[in-house]
Amino acid sequence: EDQLNPYRPLLGKTALVTAGPTYEPIDPVRFLGNYSSGRQGYAIAESLRDAGADVTLVSGPVSMMPPENIRVIHIQTAQEMLDTCLKIIPVDIAVMAAAVADWRAKEVSDKKIKKTSDAKTPSFELTTNPDILATISQENSCRPRLVVGFAAETNDLLDNADAKRKRKNCDWIVVNDVNPDTKIMGGVENEVTILSSSGKQHFKRADKREIGRLLTKEIIKFFNH
Ligand code: CTP
Ligand code: CA
Repeated sequence: EDQLNPYRPLLGKTALVTAGPTYEPIDPVRFLGNYSSGRQGYAIAESLRDAGADVTLVSGPVSMMPPENIRVIHIQTAQEMLDTCLKIIPVDIAVMAAAVADWRAKEVSDKKIKKTSDAKTPSFELTTNPDILATISQENSCRPRLVVGFAAETNDLLDNADAKRKRKNCDWIVVNDVNPDTKIMGGVENEVTILSSSGKQHFKRADKREIGRLLTKEIIKFFNH
């Protein structure tokens, strides 16, 4: 196998990748979600695998085929994603590409909420989900050597992302512009800047698979230094 593909610089390294949205239930038929396709996270998982890493992909609900030679664990909610990630660490590399729902319904109705003619429009009380990236980054006993977060921003991209990186204590943050006109969230292309404590690097708009390969190259460099 190694003879067919001798360039496997991440051989012996383990990686955790999160991808896709989370779905937060409201009642048996309804949920809070977002437009994430999972494409960027799946592409990163695949390029890390191709570089030789042993990859576990924790995926929210997406329409993508499970990639070969990657351990895929499907979850629905942010809490399930966190519980799963905590079981997977320790790993060498964590890339948190999932679009985790920030909030969930405080109470989930076990019966379908009915739109009866005399009923008033329901309102929902929300509660905040745990932050998976921050939890993993702040693990002091088994923090991954490299923790990469994403920042989905619509404005003040670099400032917001840099504040996010510091707040969550991750090593790198990959910023992308999720304004609908960019067609990035849910789309096939991405344009990102990677921010770290030592500077920033821009990657021009390209297919998400190409962005995944470029990020993997940076990860390889990190482990070679
Ligand atoms: N993230 C996470 N758990 C959450 C929310 C976000 O692990 N409950 C992770 C995402 O996977 C991503 C990073 O945190 O790697 C940033 O997500 P983003 O939504 O851009 O940032 P938030 O901190 O949630 O801030 P906001 O949505 O207000 O911009
Ligand atoms: Ca968020």
